[in-house]
Amino acid sequence: MKGSLYPYPHLQERAEQPVTLTDLAKMKSEGRKIASMTAYDASFAALEDRAGMDVVLVGDSLGMVIQGADTTVPVTVDEMIYHSRAVAAGLYRPFLIADLPFLSYATKHQALETSRRLMQEGRAQMVKFEGGEIQAETVEHLSMRGVPVCGHIGLQPQLIHKLGGFKVQGRNSDAAKEMLNDARALEQAGADLLILECVPAALGAEITREVSIPVIGIGAGPDTDGQILVVYDVIGVSAGRTPRFVRNFLEEGRNVEQAVQAYVEAVRDGSYPSSEHSFG
Ligand code: KIV
Repeated sequence: MKGSLYPYPHLQERAEQPVTLTDLAKMKSEGRKIASMTAYDASFAALEDRAGMDVVLVGDSLGMVIQGADTTVPVTVDEMIYHSRAVAAGLYRPFLIADLPFLSYATKHQALETSRRLMQEGRAQMVKFEGGEIQAETVEHLSMRGVPVCGHIGLQPQLIHKLGGFKVQGRNSDAAKEMLNDARALEQAGADLLILECVPAALGAEITREVSIPVIGIGAGPDTDGQILVVYDVIGVSAGRTPRFVRNFLEEGRNVEQAVQAYVEAVRDGSYPSSEHSFG
């Protein structure tokens, strides 16, 4: 499988098996937390693998943290493929997801072609894209053709120019109901995983309870099935204001590898996120 294809020494002769969607579903059913983080290159991917990460995401956040743009909107499919391929080269055990960038999935046919490229050229094992019920038809189209899909609801950073800023979503009861409906629609359409970004902790818990697929939260409180953070936030090198849900694990005298390991342990034992990292 993956191991034999890659030159990194740590990828050779590993007894353990790479993480699959079946493993992630089992983790949800057994109440074991899923530890996930973004990566954009082979070196960080390998470090996250060594730290025991379950899922690695090549996020279109790379537009902001790698390219220095102020939104994810300018990221292209070619750029996503470049970074996904680099990350895949450093991974053995974690499951690899890559984002479909802005307007690269505007129709189901375009989404299928973008996904094909990300999986064949970028070596991703799953694609993620933003949107709730409105994307159900696209999710079904991809899923039925063998493309594993991760939905992304709550705060959708690609909608920044519509939203007018990065804000907590689902705060009133109508918006919360709509989001729950979105989660159910994505699940029914065949999504295998869900990212839930920047929502009140109680809504994070409710959506996680109500769908059978694993829900990975970022700023969605402690009760989702797993957590994800941008790697540069975990080691305190992101520019600008850090959101409430971010914790810098490099503090307390750790080196980078220890910080990433500490994040994995804190997600697993439930000590991250605490109420100070959650929205009410
Ligand atoms: O682009 C990204 O990194 C993401 C995560 C923050 C969930 O979508």
